[in-house]
Amino acid sequence: MIEKLNAIGGQALNDIENAADLDRLEQVRISILGKKGALSEVLKGLGGVSPQERPVIGGVANDWKRKVEDSLENRRKSLQEIELNRKLQSEKIDISIPSRMPHRGSLHVITQTTRRIVQIFSKIGFDVTTGPEVETEYLNFEAVNIPADHPARDMQDTFFLGPGVVLRTHTSPVQMRAMRRQKAPVRVLCPGAVYRADDDATHSPMFHQIEGLWIDRGVKMSDLKGTLQFLAAELFGKETRIRLRPSYFPFVEPGAEVDVSCFQCRTRVSDTCRVCKGTGWLEILGAGMVHPRLFEMAGYSNGTSGSGELGEWEGYTGFAFGMGVERIAMLLYQIPDLRLLFQGDIRLFSQF
Ligand code: DAH
Repeated sequence: MIEKLNAIGGQALNDIENAADLDRLEQVRISILGKKGALSEVLKGLGGVSPQERPVIGGVANDWKRKVEDSLENRRKSLQEIELNRKLQSEKIDISIPSRMPHRGSLHVITQTTRRIVQIFSKIGFDVTTGPEVETEYLNFEAVNIPADHPARDMQDTFFLGPGVVLRTHTSPVQMRAMRRQKAPVRVLCPGAVYRADDDATHSPMFHQIEGLWIDRGVKMSDLKGTLQFLAAELFGKETRIRLRPSYFPFVEPGAEVDVSCFQCRTRVSDTCRVCKGTGWLEILGAGMVHPRLFEMAGYSNGTSGSGELGEWEGYTGFAFGMGVERIAMLLYQIPDLRLLFQGDIRLFSQF
């Protein structure tokens, strides 16, 4: 029996030494010390041994048990150490390597420009209001005094989504929505995307406008001029001048196109100015006094017809203006081609 024990013990120490990892070591432990392990099996036979021999064999068995346990413990420690070192090696981080710089996003130039303009007008009491891009044909045209036979209704320009439903071709319907909702006083800016079936170097099928509207008692053309002069100075620099040229828009009367003096050559008209092409002026928007027809369409009762009594909205007038955000962004940031704004090229946008 002692021989058997010695053989088991010797083999066990060998197996422990050769165990390559902690899993294997655990298997070895079970095969020797487990309930059905080699050592335990031998000790089960102790009952058949004479009483004199029993303590001797028991002593040898206990010695082997202790040796095996010690050996297991040592091997476990060294395997754990090996495992730890392996991990430290493979997961090592070299903190001296320069990190990869993440690309930082930025707001789109159109968003930046819109925000700048909104901010300028907020200084003089304009709120922001928005309307739907999918608009009724009625609000987009009829309600802003563009009758059914007006060329602007041409299928070539307008995206029709269904009978009586269009993608709005301008932000002027938002002005009509504000008038209907708020009556007066109204002082709002309406930024948003608009759509026209047009696509070339200077036209995009989707672009952005900002509409402005101010309605109150006694608003005059000079208020329009003062407001736009304020915008021009804030946007293009304080020496910037504006000029109004008579023009026609169905929703205003009188109507005007508004130019700003060239911020590049400062109206020192020279053929070499690339920004204004030598004219000294840059057209930036359309504007005018809100057409009486729009007051009617929006349900302001002026009361002067019929009974002759003063209407609730007697004396209320207003001005409106509308500008293309892309055009202003291109002027401000000197972007040469409209299409650049929609190509999403990071080399362009990382400059802003
Ligand atoms: N709605 C016009 C357009 O799409 C722009 C415009 C011109 C708006 C004159 C106005 C205005 O409010 O008074 O081109």
